[in-house]
Formats: sequence, structure tokens, C-alpha cells
Amino acid sequence: MCGIVGYIGTKEKKEILLDGLQELEYRGYDSAGIAIIEGVKLNNFKAIGKLKNLREKTKNYTSDGFGISIGHTRWATHGKPTELNAHPHLGAYSYVVHNGIIENYQLLKDELKSEGVGFLSQTDTETIVHLFEKYHNKSNKAFEAFEKTITKLEGAYATLLITEAAADTIFFAKNGSPMLIGFDKNEVYFASSDTPIIGKATEVYYLEDGEYGYAKEGKITLFNSDGKKKFTKQALTANKALAQKDGYRFFMEKEIYEQSRIISETMMGRILDDTIALDELDANFFDGISALKICACGTSYHSALTSAYLFERITKIRCDIEIASEFRYKEPLLTDDTLFITISQSGETADTLEALKMAKRAGLRSLSICNVDNSSIVRESDATILTRAGIEKGVASTKAFATQTMVLWILALYIAQERKSISKEILHKEVDAMIHTPKALIVTDTLHEKLHRLSKRYLHGHGFFFIGRDIFFPLALEGALKLKEISYLHAEGYPAGEMKHGPIALADSELFTIALMPKTMHYEKIKSNVEELSARDATILAISPLPFDLADDFIQTKYDSHPMLEFFEMMVVTQLLALEISVRLGNDIDMPRNLAKSVTVE
Ligand code: F6R
Repeated sequence: MCGIVGYIGTKEKKEILLDGLQELEYRGYDSAGIAIIEGVKLNNFKAIGKLKNLREKTKNYTSDGFGISIGHTRWATHGKPTELNAHPHLGAYSYVVHNGIIENYQLLKDELKSEGVGFLSQTDTETIVHLFEKYHNKSNKAFEAFEKTITKLEGAYATLLITEAAADTIFFAKNGSPMLIGFDKNEVYFASSDTPIIGKATEVYYLEDGEYGYAKEGKITLFNSDGKKKFTKQALTANKALAQKDGYRFFMEKEIYEQSRIISETMMGRILDDTIALDELDANFFDGISALKICACGTSYHSALTSAYLFERITKIRCDIEIASEFRYKEPLLTDDTLFITISQSGETADTLEALKMAKRAGLRSLSICNVDNSSIVRESDATILTRAGIEKGVASTKAFATQTMVLWILALYIAQERKSISKEILHKEVDAMIHTPKALIVTDTLHEKLHRLSKRYLHGHGFFFIGRDIFFPLALEGALKLKEISYLHAEGYPAGEMKHGPIALADSELFTIALMPKTMHYEKIKSNVEELSARDATILAISPLPFDLADDFIQTKYDSHPMLEFFEMMVVTQLLALEISVRLGNDIDMPRNLAKSVTVE
């Protein structure tokens, strides 16, 4: 999704902006641009496509001396991905970048047009810069004009504005989209997440909704609706090592391999002998709670679906799962005996965040399961359990799903333990399985090589069905989503028992069925479902610890003592299958077409 970087100071600004935007690349974008004002020297560069195009355009340009600068990667919402629609947007003497959506832009645009203002782009963002100049032309006071501008905006925004009228100042505002300010001595940085400023700034302030102000002479003047506001900076980590590919071909590949190590970090300090500890939660956190409602999008939704089986089975508490974008508009019945759980890798997904705000307004207690500390969802929640997956750069989520599912499993056991609804023996069995999860997630050369070879038979056909039962049904949904995202082939996840209620009509030798056949969960049932497909000549890739004669291809898994171990091992197989098919198809693995890493628009 769109990314913002800003810098005010004496360092070379072009490199700071381009490096910062590079760090945000993984979020997905289709054009990029920068604007720099040094005294009276004003420079603006834009390019569609990858950042290397913008680098090429700016190769003969260097900025020196004091200046103000802003940059942006755009993921098109209003208007096509063209240079004219790329940010920064120019008025007569000012530039603006913006993330989010200005909902009343059409009204504002019509008003400005009727006053004779010309628009170059189809974007909602351009209205900001023209509004600013309209007010500035009247008052000649830059901050006053900026303040007036943002009072006119409805919707979600994080925005930076620079103007020749105040060539030593960056104006900023945040409402509903993330934005932070980094500090290092007299230098001030802005960004839509902390990765662009790690290693540059030493301290950070995460702006709250409704805050705005300006940066000048190394200082921030901050306001909200109550007037001028004090703020406290916090230390910013300097660890950037996680952002490297470590010799893997793709971030996604690296992240699949990392899962074994990372899952141990997710468990660290939370699994103690035969007890579960979640220090993040107050002792009375679950008091009065008799139901769980989990809300998420995409892959995070699939981990929620998985957990519903675990919660009801282990904790005996009712658990409903909601797709955030549906939940928001269905006028849900919310009662305050329900704990509202959101799951989000980024912590910035607009629909999930808004669903959380709705639940809070209805008086529900909230818990988020998130990978990004200080993200909007984390800050909005009463409590958070961090998944500790590290930065996930591949747009197709892998390790985030694994760690979310692990946290949810831990949480289910924790609730059961606190409510004394689980026996010592069962808790011991669960913890024992948990401890073996890192092994089940190891990618062996043999497995990877086998999937590489096998993938060549799955490049055509008229579609894939991933099928499974119980927790392997959400895993089937996730396997299909992974394949769709990066191969662009049609794939569906389906409950195995439902195939005969319709989809089996599609079965022929060009229908590829990926059958998740765990030994520990309804093996005989899924076996007969797969046999029905085989009888109709579907091509079957079976994933199971038990040999299966009717399979055209077979991946034998090793861990067969607990459903969750089978789940995690099969998850890796489906991830690698999607990867290898997509590599053969020559696709951009880390940045698949049309996708964004963090979906900060509805
Ligand atoms: C798929 C994927 C998306 C995200 C979804 C929610 O690989 O990454 O489906 O899971 O956009 O994002 P988060 O988890 O950041 O809220």
C-alpha cells in the first residue's frame, strides 16, 4: 500500500528518500515520486513502476545544503497508475503526499474547480495542495492555511506538505492512516512505518489520530483538537539485519525457511514446562468473558478460522469468526461478555482497525494478535500478544500465518489453563506437541527438491482444489490463497466433505486436487472424499504421513502424533508448492501483481 517518507535537514535528501521508499517497497506500489525544496530550488521527480525507474530519473541530481523533502510510493486507489497520478502532487508552489482516502474529495474538487483551479491528476490527494494554496493565497500564513485545509478533509489520511512559502518547514497531519516522526540530533524524519528510518533516527514519536503540526529547525510543534500538545519520544531500534534476503532467491522463500526458528521466538517465555504464561494479559483479563469474536482479513482470517476449532475444543468457549470488511457493515449484535480479538500481521489493515474501533465503541474488551508493535491496531487494543515474526517482506504472507496460528493455540491453552477447564494430562500433551513444532517446520533439501521437480506438472489445467477437514480446511483455504496470489492460477480451498455437494462436477484430469490427509484427524473420512475425486479422474497430489495408492503425486509428511504438528508441516508443503509453481511461471514472487503488503484502504 502507499508509503510516505519525509526529511528535513542538511543531509543528501534524494538518497534518504529513495532508501526510505525502498524499505517500504514490500508493501506493494505502482508508482513513486519525490519532491525537494532547497531555498528557492524546487525539484520533483516521478516514475511509474519500480523504484529503479525513479532512481534512473534522478541519477544526475543531488541535493546539497539545508532543505525539505517528501517522497511517496503509490498504490492506485483513485485514478490509474500514471506519472500524473503519482505523488507528490504539485500546486503552484507547494507539494503534498498522502496515504489514505479523502472521502469528500469530489465535493472539494468541484468547489475548487468552480473557483478556477486546474487539476492535473484524477487523485483525491491533489485537492489537499490546492486547498492549502487557496487559503495561503488569502492569508499568506502557511501554518494557518494548512490547519484550515485539514479541517476540511473527511476520511483517512496521513499527509506531508512542503511549500516554497515556508521553505524551512514540513507540515504534517495524521488521521486514520499511520505516520511517525523520527529524530536524530537536529534532523527530523517522517515515515508511514518505522523501517525507512531505522538506522537513521534514534528516537521516534508515533502520531495519534487527529494530530497535526509542523517541523522546523529540528523541532516539532504538535496540535490536536484541544490545541498545542506535548509529546514524548521513545527510543527506536537500530536492528536492520532482518531486512536482508540472506542468500535466498526471494524474501518469501527466506520467510518460509525462517519459520522453524521464528516459531521458537513466538513461544519463548510463554511455554514454561507444563504451564502457559502470557505476561501481556492481566490476571483478570478474561473475567466476565463468555464468548470470543475474532475479526481479520485474508491470511490472518484463515488463522482465525483455524483457531475457532481450537478455542471451542480446548476452552469450551463459543468462538465466532468474522471477515472484517463484512463485519463492519452487518450491524452485528455485540455484547460485553464477548472478547473482541483482531489478528493482523501489519496492524494497519483498515477494515480490521475499523472493526476494532466499532467493537470498542460497543464497549467490548479487545485483544490484538499482531506482528508490528506500536501499529495502529496495537495502539487501539486493550491488550496485545505480539507474534514476533520479524519483518515480513514477501507480499504473500507465510511466517505471519504460522506465528499467528501458534499464538492462537497458546492463547486457547492459556484460557483453558486459567479457567481450569483442561486436565494436566491434556495440557502436557499439547505443550509437548508445541515444543516439537519448530522441527515440523524445518524445510529439508529433499522436500524442497521434490516440490521443485513436481511443480512442473502443475502449470496448466483448469484449476486447483485444496481440500481438508477440521483445522485442515482453513489450511486448505490458505494453501489456495498462497497459490493464487503468486502463481495467478485459479485455486480454491474447500471442506473435503463438501466437494460432492457441487464442485465435484468440475472433476476431470485437468482438475488438480491438493489433498491434506492428516493421520490424526478424520483420515478415513478424507480418504473417501479423495477417492470420490480420483474415481472422476481428478489429478491428485496427496500430502499425508500415510501412503495413498490413488495419488498421482505424493508428499509423505513425518510428524503424525498431533494434528497441529501435521498442520504446520503440511503448511510448509503448500507454501513451497505455491513458490515453486510460481517460480516456473516466471512471476514476481515477492511483489505479485495487483497486491499490496499492507491494505490501509477499505
Ligand atoms: C495474503 C496476505 C493478506 C493479508 C491481509 C491482512 O498473503 O498477506 O491476505 O493477510 O491483507 O493483512 P494483515 O494481517 O496485515 O491485517
